[in-house]
Amino acid sequence: MNKKWWKEAVVYQIYWRSFNDSNGDGYGDLRGIIEKLDYIKNLGIDVIWLNPFYQSPDRDNGYDISNYYVIMEKAGDMEAFDELIHEIHQRGMKVIMDLVVNHTSDRHPWFLESRSSKNNPKRDWYIWKDPKDGREPNNWRSYFAPACWELDKATGQFYYHSFAVEQPDLNWENPELRQEIYKMMRFWLDKGIEGFRMDVINLLAKREDLSDAEDPYDISYLANNPGIHDYLQEMHREVLQHYDVMTVGEIPFVSPEEGLLYVDESRNELNTLFHFQVADEMPVWDMLRFKEIQTSWYNGLKQKGWNSQFLNNHDHTRQVTRYGNDGQYRDQSAKLLAAMIHTLPGTPYIYQGEEIGMTGVRFDSIEDYNDIAMKNKYHEEVSKGRDPKEVFESLLLLSRDNSRTPMQWNDSINAGFTAGDPWIKVNPNFREINVEAALNDPDSIFYFYKKLIELRKQNEVMVYGDYKDLLPDDEHLYVYTRSYNDVTWLIVLNHGDEQQTFTFDGFANRELILSNYQNDFDTNEEILLPHEARIYEILRN
Ligand code: GLC
Repeated sequence: MNKKWWKEAVVYQIYWRSFNDSNGDGYGDLRGIIEKLDYIKNLGIDVIWLNPFYQSPDRDNGYDISNYYVIMEKAGDMEAFDELIHEIHQRGMKVIMDLVVNHTSDRHPWFLESRSSKNNPKRDWYIWKDPKDGREPNNWRSYFAPACWELDKATGQFYYHSFAVEQPDLNWENPELRQEIYKMMRFWLDKGIEGFRMDVINLLAKREDLSDAEDPYDISYLANNPGIHDYLQEMHREVLQHYDVMTVGEIPFVSPEEGLLYVDESRNELNTLFHFQVADEMPVWDMLRFKEIQTSWYNGLKQKGWNSQFLNNHDHTRQVTRYGNDGQYRDQSAKLLAAMIHTLPGTPYIYQGEEIGMTGVRFDSIEDYNDIAMKNKYHEEVSKGRDPKEVFESLLLLSRDNSRTPMQWNDSINAGFTAGDPWIKVNPNFREINVEAALNDPDSIFYFYKKLIELRKQNEVMVYGDYKDLLPDDEHLYVYTRSYNDVTWLIVLNHGDEQQTFTFDGFANRELILSNYQNDFDTNEEILLPHEARIYEILRN
């Protein structure tokens, strides 16, 4: 596979509103990020992904944009942005921004114009349909609401929204709209950013056939519709090919076969993708399923396209809580998951706080939560007469706020995140789990990440190596090799609370590179302790 900087990179995701508040308003901000760049650099990061900070009524935490050219006040202003980019580049890092072009806010001037009358020139920039028998055009649901249609009383038509009512979808069939988006992308690229994380990018094309879905709850009809690849190829031609950038598409509802269409290097669409076979489709850890997913994506993209590796982000509960053990074995488990993500094929992503093993949160009341997906679902279910407490409990594990609590910097008030009132409560475990403590402990999760990142820089096998799962049917151990030229690495992971045995047959001559337990080999190397992770190099005789 040809070599690229974004294949070799490690990406750090900054959910800025929860990262570091520089002005005491309770929200993190761009200047707050600048204050922490040395910390990120120290970890070894190459690329920073920033969640959206465009002007927005903020119904969906910045994913409802009302002006693509203005910075949201909570985040700062254009001067702060320029300074941030400069400071990131000064430290030899790159930056990618969220590109949210499936929908805008309902307060975006384009939408205000579009809804103002049926013959407004921008009517066609959004998707409007007549009622069917006085009702919604069909039975489709949206991500955040019981229907993907909302009636505009004034004009008597429904508009289409894949997410909340306040997030009308743009009509990508309109060429003028597409040019406007490309212009906006060039604006940011010309400011010096190095790429985009593209929000739900495979939702841009809509189905023409509006007949009812058999199962409206399976909302995959919102994605991967005919025309999508034409749009992405056009975007590449018009914008992306003129810059040395990294693009990563957020692509729900895809198999490896379909995924390849988005990232096949010969097709000129996107560089890499986030598929959601794990984060959306595997609610709790399932070893056999996880291995199957890894193997099928590896085979599916092999030599043609590039994958990404992540287990959590701002939409998905923190990995050590959801997929690991955030109790007795939190330290080992966080390290094991890190070792896994950084040795599987694809570019690894770290979501802020993951590198110190931050955990998911459980607040006591729905009032403590802010996530529009969770709140809308709560109200929908309660209005059907379900017991509020039961509904609340059922939504806790997957609430997106699990991973949105403030970054835990130290053990002072509000975990050092803000001098004001944080927009969302801090996880009460910040006195124990925080950056300051991690930096003071040479065995911390932080330094384990740092070591993994260093290894990636020194060993191409971690980036370009072939992948082979040696125990596809083992429910406890995950053992695989990566091989590149004449180097072979063996990764042995015991993802569980019980100890396990691995006999190393065929790998007699080996050298340990990294492990998450210290000096445990005095006894028997074949015994793997709970959540033990080891990386070996296999030596030739
Ligand atoms: C993506 C974002 C999520 C947002 C949604 C709508 O899934 O990651 O946070 O709510 O798109 O833009």
